[in-house]
Parts: sequence; C-alpha cells; structure tokens
Amino acid sequence: MADTRSKLDFGKAKEVAQKVMGDVGAVMHGMLSFIGDRVGLFKAMMDAGALTVDQLAARSGLNTRYVREWLSAMAAAGYVEYDAGAQTYLLTPEYAAALADEDSPFFIGSYFQMAQAAAMVAPEVAQAFRSGAGVLQAQYPAGFFEAAERNSNTRYKHKLLRKWIPAMPQVVEVLQGGGTAADIGCGGGRAAIMIAQAFPKARVTGFDIHAASIERARRNAEAAGVRGRVSFELTNGTQLPQRAFDFAATFDVVHDAVDPVGLMDAIRRSLREDGTYLVQELNLSGELSDNLRPLGKMAYSVSTLYCMTTSLAQGGAGIGAAMGEAKARELAAAAGFSRFARLPVQDDFAVLYELRP
Ligand SMILES: C[S@@+](CC[C@H](N)C(=O)[O-])C[C@H]1O[C@@H](n2cnc3c(N)ncnc32)[C@H](O)[C@@H]1O
Repeated sequence: MADTRSKLDFGKAKEVAQKVMGDVGAVMHGMLSFIGDRVGLFKAMMDAGALTVDQLAARSGLNTRYVREWLSAMAAAGYVEYDAGAQTYLLTPEYAAALADEDSPFFIGSYFQMAQAAAMVAPEVAQAFRSGAGVLQAQYPAGFFEAAERNSNTRYKHKLLRKWIPAMPQVVEVLQGGGTAADIGCGGGRAAIMIAQAFPKARVTGFDIHAASIERARRNAEAAGVRGRVSFELTNGTQLPQRAFDFAATFDVVHDAVDPVGLMDAIRRSLREDGTYLVQELNLSGELSDNLRPLGKMAYSVSTLYCMTTSLAQGGAGIGAAMGEAKARELAAAAGFSRFARLPVQDDFAVLYELRP
C-alpha cells in the first residue's frame, strides 16, 4: 500500500485507468454483442446498407427504444458506422463477416455467447480459487456448449476438409476406401458429420462424456442426412473399443481431459495397424512469455473459466488451454506413441500433431 501510493506515477496511472475502463467497457459491450447475436440484430443488419433505428427495428421485429440504445453502444464501440446527418447506422462487410455471417471464415460472433455462459459460472470458479477444487461440466449452461459448437463449426467448415485432413494423405486414402474414423470429445459432432459427408464410404463414430452434446450431435447428424453413416456414443474416450479405427482425432480435447495420458493411451489402443491419430490444440506455447497476445488473453481466460477448471473438478490434470508442443510430445510418449510430427499447416489459431502408434 505504501509503495502503491508513494511511487505512483500519475501520468501512467491515468493511462492505466483509461485502459482498464476500456476493458470494462468491452465486457459490458460484449454483453450487448451477445444480445445482438441472440436476437438477430447483427444478422438483420448484414447486407442491409445504412439503416435508421426505425428501419432496423422493423427489419428485426424488435422494440425501437432498445434498438436505438443498442445501436448507440455499437456505434461508440466502432462496430457500426454512424452517420449523424442521415441518422443511419451501417454494419460494414468486414464487421458483418466477424459478427453475422456464420459461413465466413472470419465469423467470431458466437464467442459472445460463450462469454455470457462462462460469466454465469464465474462465481463458482471464484469459489474454486479458494478451495482448489473446480466446477463440474454439468454446472455449465447449455449455451456454453452450443457456443463451442458454433465456434468450431466455423473452423471445421474452412479448415478440416480443406487443410487439416489433406495434410495426411494416408488418412484421405483410407477414408476414401471406406475406413473407420473416431472423433473423441466430439461435442456437437460437427467434425464427425463433415468427415462422413466428405467420405461417403467411411464409417464415423463420435464419442463424448457430455450427454447434452451427444444428443445435439445426433440431432445434427439427422438434420445433415448422415445418420446412417455416423453414430454418436456417450462414452469416455478412455473406454474406446480396441483396434477399431483407421483414423482418430481429438479437436481441443486433450488439454481439457481429466486423464490426458490415459485418454491418449486408449486412443492408441483403439487404432488399427497403420492408424493415425490427429491431435488439434490451440496454437500456443507452453511458455507464458510466448503467449502475451490476444489469443493468449482469450485462451488463459477460457481455460480458467472452463478447460482447466472442469478437469480439476474431477481431480484431473488441469493442463489448461495453453498446452504447447513440448507437453504434447511428453503426453504422446507417455501414452506409447512412437511417432510424433507437427503437421506443416499454417494456422493462427490451431496446431496439429500427427501421431502414430
Ligand atoms: C472444448 S470441447 C471440444 C468439442 C469439439 N471437439 C469441438 O471442437 O467443438 C471438449 C470436449 O471434449 C469432451 N471430453 C473431455 N474429456 C473427454 C473424455 N475423456 N472422453 C470423451 N470426451 C471428452 C468434453 O465433454 C467436450 O465436449
């Protein structure tokens, strides 16, 4: 306290206070973006040109007074362009790509849904800071998992079949010929469904320990018309059938796992001879000093709010989202994999490791 007051540089303190105010504003504004995503305001503005408050209210079917206040917040944040003379608001194509267009590779709007859902359990996470325990997956609202599915759906649409799987020619060949594939920790099943769609002869199974996600995955498969070729099972990845799969994958799962070595060992045993295991994790280092950038800010925060905490809740390893390659290599070796290669895929967010028994 004495140092804080006596050594305070007033100029810097003012700058810091302004930065923190900006961050607080971002959190508050983030909840308005959550609402914009939820009630369809961003989508209503996409491709609509400059709109007045009344036009957007009519277009979205929402209350004019709320729409005006929401637009004011969006204009102040720079998310929409405000023309004071014409009294109009414009969502530019670039902001529409990030916030409204779920088919765009730049779409990131579903993270607001994840942030809002994570905020619901923040008091329980705070309690875990004292107890050292965690928060069970079952305590998270459904919106958290729906948001995770939306987030990864964007990634899969643009990367899974275009970049990630093609980086493993032997996997393409075996799936084209009618091989078997497993997506462990499949969540809402989007990756498994896309693999089934791309490889009509392949048989694909998704596994997850989260019952609501498995139910959603089954519904998604039904809607995608691939129910006969892809199935989803409420099964822990440590309990996979042996020698069953030519290809196995985990997308953002190992760092969440309660028993990552046990999980990877079970995956190794589930592979057929010459099988391949693809591990996708976040493109972050295990060293904090390498991660001092926006992806690090996001990943350590989500990790504390979910990844590490749900693992610790079950007495797990609690690796956390910034796993890093050294840790991945250590886990793979402990799980009995003899070959480990980082795939040469350029990706700001994801890193891919190809493992062989
Ligand atoms: C961050 S989510 C990723 C979901 C999905 N792969 C995606 O990319 O959207 C991690 C998922 O792994 C599942 N999971 C964690 N440990 C698991 C285990 N041992 N066996 C099966 N699923 C597991 C969780 O229930 C959760 O659905």
